[in-house]
Amino acid sequence: MKLPPKIPLARLPTPLQPLDRLSKHLGGPRIWLKRDDLTENIGGGNKLRKLEYVLADAKQHGATAVITSGGIQSNHCRATAFAAAKLGLHCHLILRGKPQTLADGNLLLDQLLGASIDYVNAKDFADLNACYYRAGERLREKGFQPYDIPIGASNDIGIWGYVEAAEEMICDFADAAIDPVALVLAVGSGGTYAGLQAGFSMKAHQSQLIGICVGDNNAFFEHKVNQDLSAWQTRYDVTLNLRPNKFYDQFIGQGYGVASAEIYALIQKVAELEGVILDPVYTGKAMFGLTQLITSKALEGDDIVFLHSGGTFGLFPKMNRQPLSELTQ
Ligand SMILES: Cc1ncc(COP(=O)(O)O)c(C=O)c1O
Repeated sequence: MKLPPKIPLARLPTPLQPLDRLSKHLGGPRIWLKRDDLTENIGGGNKLRKLEYVLADAKQHGATAVITSGGIQSNHCRATAFAAAKLGLHCHLILRGKPQTLADGNLLLDQLLGASIDYVNAKDFADLNACYYRAGERLREKGFQPYDIPIGASNDIGIWGYVEAAEEMICDFADAAIDPVALVLAVGSGGTYAGLQAGFSMKAHQSQLIGICVGDNNAFFEHKVNQDLSAWQTRYDVTLNLRPNKFYDQFIGQGYGVASAEIYALIQKVAELEGVILDPVYTGKAMFGLTQLITSKALEGDDIVFLHSGGTFGLFPKMNRQPLSELTQ
């Protein structure tokens, strides 16, 4: 199949590595890590793969600025600010939360990368279209040609990033001579899951795709992922026999962005055992879900792949306000 235009931004392919000590510690299947946290340094994580396609579309539309949105510590917003700076585009961010006098983590990088920012309270953020509209008007008055990117770059164009990644992973599995029973990943806005679902279905690949919800529930993602995939199929005239989705929402805990002591303790364990840093919002929560599925024997087999989708910068503002010993107890 011919893929739409993309602008190369990510360092691909990313490595696939076995986590032998963690696997031994859990006493279950061999866990492998697909290192999409290494797609770049400052721009790293899953979002860069989607942005390669979305920003190519922006450029095709003559954009000179991009607008996107997310939480104060959005990894997606930071990756967009990075990619925009690389491509000479202005980046405007609509961030849910209060203005910060001392920026940290992703927000610090957004500022260094030159993004302009609207801080929006939760009530106004609920009418996100109006926020985009107002930001677009202001940018037009300044002579920019703005282009809107949705939360997480999760739309019918962004899907291509993980359609391509699915193909890359199928090659990784062949190189490592494994036939993983499942690929497990964090699901935040659904685009990564949707792309992988499409990519695996296209190649009739059999690994289960397990999405660990980090904020919204199963029903939300069943709807969102199917809606994005259906828009993608229509837009690119693709006919596919899609496999059923599999989401787990029981590891959300107290809500999006809130991690329990067990999750912090797991982040520390993975770091100690493997030299790999997860984050409390996405990958730590998803890895916690995976360990629970393994120890409860809901997931069995020889090999399981976990997608490290990035998020490392979001670790600092979450963890630097309390001693580690308190966070992990
Ligand atoms: C580090 C990280 N992992 C996973 C996700 C989830 O990806 P998606 O939004 O495509 O579901 C996100 C963003 O939401 C993220 O920032």
